[in-house]
Amino acid sequence: MGKITNLGKTWLHKARLYWLQRGADESYRAYLTEQFERSLSKSTTPLQSTRLIDRLFEAVPITSDMSVLCIGSRNAAELDYMRSKGAKQVTGIDLHSESPDILVMDMHHMKFPDAHFDIVYSSHSLEHAYDAALVIKEMIRVSRNGAAIAIEVPIQYETRGSDRFDFESAEKLLSLFAPFVDQVLVSEEHPPFSPMNRYSTPIARVVFTLRKQPA
Ligand SMILES: C[S@@+](CC[C@H](N)C(=O)[O-])C[C@H]1O[C@@H](n2cnc3c(N)ncnc32)[C@H](O)[C@@H]1O
Repeated sequence: MGKITNLGKTWLHKARLYWLQRGADESYRAYLTEQFERSLSKSTTPLQSTRLIDRLFEAVPITSDMSVLCIGSRNAAELDYMRSKGAKQVTGIDLHSESPDILVMDMHHMKFPDAHFDIVYSSHSLEHAYDAALVIKEMIRVSRNGAAIAIEVPIQYETRGSDRFDFESAEKLLSLFAPFVDQVLVSEEHPPFSPMNRYSTPIARVVFTLRKQPA
């Protein structure tokens, strides 16, 4: 019975991926398959670090009416941690999902309307983009004017396989959001295995507010 259920789940995940891939060229389909397979094989991995969420909510005190988008959440762990900190309206997106709160959606082509979220959060997901400029455009599009964006990525590491982008520094990462960056609330880099970074690569962590309309 358990085996049939697992087969059924795998079939459902693959059907949803197939739906995301419709109309895409071979290279983009291969990209999505690689990201999907890598993530699915780690779908029960616990949350590796809460640092970005902690830094975000220190800088932007969360209130129950704020809507939060979590890009590349993999499983419900990030959403659960955000809720434990007071977030009430949290939506995740990823290429697979076993949670009603995580929508199967490609971060390059989000299905949300313009100006929908108060907070857009992406931890160790932007480096997995096929086209980082397009994902950034989408992040800005779905954010409200004045929204906060929080991003953490590995930097100064060897890109390969599903790890596709090295943004090199917090400053370069922020520059990709120009001219929409309003206030920079957090901009930091940390060496591997250091008190503020549990990962094996250096990381850049930024939190900033967006100005979508001219001042
Ligand atoms: C390294 S995991 C990060 C998981 C979690 N955010 C964390 O920090 O532990 C990257 C996630 O991004 C997702 N991802 C990769 N490409 C994606 C895409 N095009 N659209 C949506 N999610 C994507 C992967 O499926 C994976 O779950």
